[in-house]
Amino acid sequence: MVMQLEVRKRLECVETDPVIEVSNLDVFYGEKQALKDVNIKIFKNQITAFIGPSGCGKTTLLRCFNRMNDMIKTFRMEGEILLDCEDIYTSDHDVIALRKKVGMVFQQPNPLPTSIYNNLSLPIKEHFPKITKEDLMNVINKKLSAAHLLSEIENRIHESALKLSGGQQQRLCIARALTIEPEVILFDEPCSALDPISTMKIEELLMRFKEKYTIIIVTHNMQQATRIADKVAFFFQGEIIEQGTADDLFVNPQQELTQRYVTGRF
Ligand SMILES: Nc1ncnc2c1ncn2[C@@H]1O[C@H](COP(=O)(O)OP(=O)(O)OP(=O)(O)O)[C@@H](O)[C@H]1O
Ligand SMILES: [Mg+2]
Repeated sequence: MVMQLEVRKRLECVETDPVIEVSNLDVFYGEKQALKDVNIKIFKNQITAFIGPSGCGKTTLLRCFNRMNDMIKTFRMEGEILLDCEDIYTSDHDVIALRKKVGMVFQQPNPLPTSIYNNLSLPIKEHFPKITKEDLMNVINKKLSAAHLLSEIENRIHESALKLSGGQQQRLCIARALTIEPEVILFDEPCSALDPISTMKIEELLMRFKEKYTIIIVTHNMQQATRIADKVAFFFQGEIIEQGTADDLFVNPQQELTQRYVTGRF
């Protein structure tokens, strides 16, 4: 019966369906409830921003999308998350394939303590074990170029990634996220450790990426959300209080809490 339902959903999935659809999601860490009755649809070729005060569940929801919370022993969830119309929490769902589809970039740049080349070649070789040396170099250059890093580091590719500036390290991590050919990329406060110019470079990347990927970004920076987000969801104490277009939330919020938060009167 379950199998039939999954097959039916897959067949009915059409281009206009959301890439991710969350229904009635509750998340618990032990006794503590971190998300309460969350419902949201995330669409292709859009940037969706999650905003809200610290501890309101933004990272928790992001990590549900590639089942990273599975590693937390106390984690428990109820409700449903569909990716491309498939339930990603069925017991037989391929979690490794899921994590290839849903890449993630974290708050602190986290390159491996090895060369720039290795940071990209290792995941590429894992993803495409039979790749030739020449094709590997081409893919590395392509991903560095897509992350707007190639021109800055072209002659330093065998140097340690840790010698790069923070902003460059973050763009290397973005290039690394691209190596697995994801469909969705999750960005958890990717600019919070960066200066304004590095931040601007990453915002430019995200605006370009949305043509190809589905982007979700957590940010505490309201100006950033205003600049780049198509859709915004405002979280408070584990609930989505309000969601809609960036204009809906920033220009014409319906809830007093949203209004107070987006105008900095919190
Ligand atoms: N591994 C965990 N074990 C127990 N509780 C957790 C765990 N991770 C998060 N929490 C709790 O769940 C709630 C939501 O946390 P989450 O990290 O999702 O918030 P957030 O909105 O991302 O906050 P911030 O803006 O500070 O990053 C918080 O109360 C947090 O303490
Ligand atoms: Mg967080």
